[in-house]
Amino acid sequence: MIIRIDKYLADLGFGTRSEVRSLVKSGSVSINEEITKDVGLRIDPENVQVKVKGKAVSYSEYEYYMLYKPAGVITASSDKREKTVVDLIESRKRRDLFPVGRLDRDTEGLLLITNDGELAHKLLAPGKHVDKKYMAVISGELPEDVVGQFEKGLDIGDEKPTKPARLRVYKTKEEYIESFSETMVDEYLLEHYEGADHICEIIITEGRYHEIKRMFEVVGCKVEYLKRYSMGKLELDMSLRPGEYKEISRAECGI
Ligand code: URA
Repeated sequence: MIIRIDKYLADLGFGTRSEVRSLVKSGSVSINEEITKDVGLRIDPENVQVKVKGKAVSYSEYEYYMLYKPAGVITASSDKREKTVVDLIESRKRRDLFPVGRLDRDTEGLLLITNDGELAHKLLAPGKHVDKKYMAVISGELPEDVVGQFEKGLDIGDEKPTKPARLRVYKTKEEYIESFSETMVDEYLLEHYEGADHICEIIITEGRYHEIKRMFEVVGCKVEYLKRYSMGKLELDMSLRPGEYKEISRAECGI
């Protein structure tokens, strides 16, 4: 890949195109140890060493990060007032990262952060029906036929009912714990069980606004805690703690 030095530096967050041009003109940028002031210089990032103010920089065309989104952080690329999920990726090299899909401020769990628009489209396009698996801590009495209602689709006040969703109900905390081996029980989830009634696993293929919360509301219940575990073949690494992330490969995204 051949790329202009000004685009290269702008992609890596050294400023806007005009800012990085000034940087180059000021003599702060070297290619293979030689200062260049040519803002239109075309380079092959794989085969040259670029330094800015004497510090080596490295370029990646695409980056992929698996984030364990914590509660309280907004799903956005940038915000004037609030910390975003992209701000949590401290080791990012590129400035054009965005979250793939949206989790509510109080929802936790798997979020993919990348700058690969094509991959994001494959995961999000309505026609692709990518499974998203969540666990929810619920308060209230679930109706007997709740599994059937979720399977059939629910009228949550949108133009169309929800697409079929798969629901598995753990009536109590004990039932949840018994169903999983000790290593698979999610302590973060259990921390939110106090005062609640059930734990549910729910798999949806859409990504509507507050979709799961509204589905439970329609059957007379309240979601007290919601966490996403997977999106297609991409599964949350259970060794990550809230707010932690790891860089993954394109292949690991599973699509
Ligand atoms: N459904 C919701 O209600 N909230 C989320 O964050 C994700 C799915």
